[in-house]
Amino acid sequence: MALVGDNGAGKSTLIKTLAGAHLPDEGVILLDGQPVRFSSPKDAWMRGVATIFQELALAGKMTISDNIFLGRELTRTIAGIQFLDRRAMRQRSRELLEELDVSVPDIHTWVEHLSGGQRQGVAIARALNIDADVIIMDEPTAALAVAEVRKVLAFIKALRRQGKSVILISHNVQDVFEVSDRITVLRRGRRIAMLETNQTTPEEVVGYITGAAEVTRSRVASD
Ligand SMILES: Nc1ncnc2c1ncn2[C@@H]1O[C@H](COP(=O)(O)OP(=O)(O)OP(=O)(O)O)[C@@H](O)[C@H]1O
Ligand SMILES: [Mg+2]
Repeated sequence: MALVGDNGAGKSTLIKTLAGAHLPDEGVILLDGQPVRFSSPKDAWMRGVATIFQELALAGKMTISDNIFLGRELTRTIAGIQFLDRRAMRQRSRELLEELDVSVPDIHTWVEHLSGGQRQGVAIARALNIDADVIIMDEPTAALAVAEVRKVLAFIKALRRQGKSVILISHNVQDVFEVSDRITVLRRGRRIAMLETNQTTPEEVVGYITGAAEVTRSRVASD
């Protein structure tokens, strides 16, 4: 599902609500048809909803594997004392990055030394590591070079093939058409259209985003 809309339309705010970072004043969130209330992003993660925020929320002065396991570190117990199992975390991190086809110089590298695309890869690996069913990405390609954008779009397609649900926020209508099945358009905090990608056109979507097009019921796909 692509979520599109002009700057300030409320996209990030909506997904922060879905992710447990903001509490909704009203309305219900259904997960597999069941109402849920998330009190924090961690709460949402535990229920299989992982969000990669626009700001990425990675720790620059920590290594790649420390970031992937942040808040969910693996431990082992020796003589009754708990230790971080760094070797296991590094091993799993390497596997995840390989799965995503992200090449990094060294798993010990601080995240602040990585490129934008590599950082996005680390953030996605972190979401995959909790085996989330729903992965929400806020503008994952905004700051990336062309080759890195291709890679992120490939990650999204790979997630879709694995049967995961992805919500992608993007300003790039071409990217949206390449990876989405459905498109939701927000304007001034409201959903004004939900379209099947293969039954609409970039021009129509842009019309909804800018407000040039009015909502016609027949064009809105069912929830
Ligand atoms: N449903 C809402 N009700 C009231 N205020 C809202 C609502 N949604 C968003 N806002 C406010 O509108 C502003 C912009 O929202 P937000 O950052 O979510 O936009 P955005 O669509 O993500 O924009 P961008 O494309 O620039 O990232 C924020 O100050 C937010 O608090
Ligand atoms: Mg935003």
